[in-house]
Amino acid sequence: MPFNVYVTRMIPRAGIDYLQENCETVDINPEDRVLSPQELLEAIKERDGILCLLTDNINEEVFDAARGAKVFANMAVGYDNIDVAEATRRGIAITNTPGVLTDATSDFAWALLFSIARRVVEADKFTRAGKFVGWGPLVFLGGDITGRTLGIIGAGRIGTAVALKSPGFRMQVLYTDIQQNETLEEKIGARRVSLEELLEKSDFVSIHVNLTPDTQHLIGPRQLELMKPTAYLINTSRGPVIDEAALVEALKEKKIAGAALDVYEEEPKVHPELMKLDNVVLTPHIASATIESRSKMALMAAENLVAVLKGKPPKNCVNPQVLKS
Ligand code: GLV
Repeated sequence: MPFNVYVTRMIPRAGIDYLQENCETVDINPEDRVLSPQELLEAIKERDGILCLLTDNINEEVFDAARGAKVFANMAVGYDNIDVAEATRRGIAITNTPGVLTDATSDFAWALLFSIARRVVEADKFTRAGKFVGWGPLVFLGGDITGRTLGIIGAGRIGTAVALKSPGFRMQVLYTDIQQNETLEEKIGARRVSLEELLEKSDFVSIHVNLTPDTQHLIGPRQLELMKPTAYLINTSRGPVIDEAALVEALKEKKIAGAALDVYEEEPKVHPELMKLDNVVLTPHIASATIESRSKMALMAAENLVAVLKGKPPKNCVNPQVLKS
């Protein structure tokens, strides 16, 4: 096919192979790093489609440079990096990769939950530092997990998957969402409550909302104040959902027991005060980073891109209204 596409950074082979089978020109950023805004503007000129990543800021200027592009296929389920309203005005399709990363991401939320509650990272550093001089009755005491209350903020695909993995730990599950989640209520007796009630009652609060103007700083000083001093906050969604400065204060003042974060307000920057605290676990936005998931995400993004170029409905379009015209 005479399609000319650009991939903003090397992705798993499955995605590249699919693009090469279906497009005449497939150019890829040769460097394993995020393109600067200027480099991105240059690279995407005269392309029919662009496969982009959540680290690319796809704004009006980018759409101006990408005249003729019909689609931006984001290799991520979240698409807050893209000005979708502007894309829609211009008739450009935006696609994402839901579903294929649900298990990997929900597994990782559990990994963070265990790491922070049972102080795995701190204990590892301690052991490597040669400080383990023998078992001790007061060494690295953490928080119980089994039998505790899990609060899920945002019971969409990933939040639901996290909750459905909880029965092995005999946890009570509370959730907040704009809509009722019958699966959670029927399968595990989860209860939909207000955000305030969830924060007051949960021992673990795990965030799974999209980043939108409504969810930015959803967790700020007032919300942190409501949490138990023994509770933990886990975030695998998007950093700006938490007011990071308020979180630092809450952690320093031991208003909550700890936080485990995979995402940050100004990635890749991490608040310098978070770096100094022991009661946090910090990972570099890797919740979906399994070989299988990333491969499926790359293929799905490539399939979405090619579908739009071929005039077929892509599986995962976030602004499908542009396809109808
Ligand atoms: C990862 O953060 C994603 O949105 O896919």
